[in-house]
Amino acid sequence: MVKRAGGALLLGIQIDPASPRPIGTQLYVSLRELMLSGGIATGVRLPATRTLARDLGVSRTTVIEAFERLLAEGLIVSRVGSGSFVSDALRTERPQPPPRAGKSPEERKQPQLSRAMGWAFAHFSRRERLPHRPRAFVTALPAYDAFPMAQWARVAARHWRGARDDVMGYGEPYGHPRLREAIATHLRGNRGISCEKGQIFVVGGAQQAFYQIGAALLNPGDKVWFENPGAIGARNGLVACGADLVPVPIDREGLRVDEGLRQSRHFRLAFVTPSHQQPLGHIMSLERRFALLRAAEQAGAWIIEDDYDGEFSFGRRPLPTLKSVDQTGLVIYVGTFSKSLFPALRLGFMLVPPALVETFERISASFIQGVPTSVQAIVADFIHEGYFATHVRRMRRVYAERHAALCEEADRKLRGLLEIVPTESGLHTIGRLAKGISERIATDAAAEKGVVVSPIARFSISPTKDNGLVLGFGAVGPRDIKEGVARLAPALEALARRSGRRMV
Ligand SMILES: Cc1ncc(COP(=O)(O)O)c(C=O)c1O
Repeated sequence: MVKRAGGALLLGIQIDPASPRPIGTQLYVSLRELMLSGGIATGVRLPATRTLARDLGVSRTTVIEAFERLLAEGLIVSRVGSGSFVSDALRTERPQPPPRAGKSPEERKQPQLSRAMGWAFAHFSRRERLPHRPRAFVTALPAYDAFPMAQWARVAARHWRGARDDVMGYGEPYGHPRLREAIATHLRGNRGISCEKGQIFVVGGAQQAFYQIGAALLNPGDKVWFENPGAIGARNGLVACGADLVPVPIDREGLRVDEGLRQSRHFRLAFVTPSHQQPLGHIMSLERRFALLRAAEQAGAWIIEDDYDGEFSFGRRPLPTLKSVDQTGLVIYVGTFSKSLFPALRLGFMLVPPALVETFERISASFIQGVPTSVQAIVADFIHEGYFATHVRRMRRVYAERHAALCEEADRKLRGLLEIVPTESGLHTIGRLAKGISERIATDAAAEKGVVVSPIARFSISPTKDNGLVLGFGAVGPRDIKEGVARLAPALEALARRSGRRMV
């Protein structure tokens, strides 16, 4: 006997006439969900379209259209003279719902992860999330307010009106050719790097580059020299590839190469931020750069240079990149548009040494990496037409002003509590806390006043002597910076009073 879907079917169908979603789509989605969840059993005959339309108070055409979509997907079958039935294929093909949390010990079992990812999970923090909304003193965000949105919108609109062949396809796997060219020209002219377009690989942000490099070059357990404290995104990307991070301390000249050698002479990769150490802000000295290159050469190791905000040096010309003095061919240079344009683009690039070009060509071409071609083309035009260079030049002034506002205001209101360490470039700096004030407690106290700061320990892979806060000054203007300092001061005062300490 054929079972019919009756009243239960009508109860399960959700149609909201006030919804902006067309009625036909709502009907199709409801029926689809009922079938996939088992709300209507396989083999059941659906009501005739005329009957269903009448019962639901919708037009028959609407019901026919919904049925046709289900028919096209194979969820229902139509038998001439008998009507429409829920397909038998669902009996075997129906995806099973995931087990509900906390059901049984069996269901509660953690999924079996790969060795590398299981290892990485022990390092990942549960709270990691990069910021989205500018306010005092978030790090990692550029000045949204100073972005030339009108020019950007014009270039973007023109792109979307372009030839469909240029706008709609998969695009080149290594990156949009005009963008690769623009990046190579920019690096030659502004970062002192002699390079060819063929060495540039466009990726979905610097963090994706770190992961790709790790995936290509590391075996689980390989030693990786890592700045301590150091960049969180890079750390997570590399441990996800099984890296065994060696915490190498930092001093005023940057990475302590001697300490790296003492801890692990046979390293496979080193990660550094030579133009603006993340988070302490030091610039790596030339001697250290050469020492690092020598150590890598002896170990047969690669070096990742993360030049995340090297564009924004105040005053004097930017320090040369490590890549620009590299004679070994071991440095992989990584750049991002997250600071120089904005993070939502998810756009970065690697400049790989000649020995790795073929490797990354094979990797990029073998599976699609998913950097939208449209974004790449718009950025390429933005650079070629000079808007990028003008924007970066202007932002150097803007960030210098914001940095000065933070230093001056902190000097007035935070003296003896938090000593801001001036920086020569970038969008953030650190402040050293008075003895007796813990950076974690200070971070929580600041948050209660609506001020965002990060403890330096968040960036550390093993404990350091640093006791301070990382403060971003790039995201908001001088007025908000002053307001942030004004809110931070009483919070730190209270902590200092409690500890009975204040700097002199
Ligand atoms: C040290 C460092 N490198 C790179 C980036 C940029 O990463 P992405 O290009 O994935 O946005 C950031 C972001 O804050 C960073 O702090």
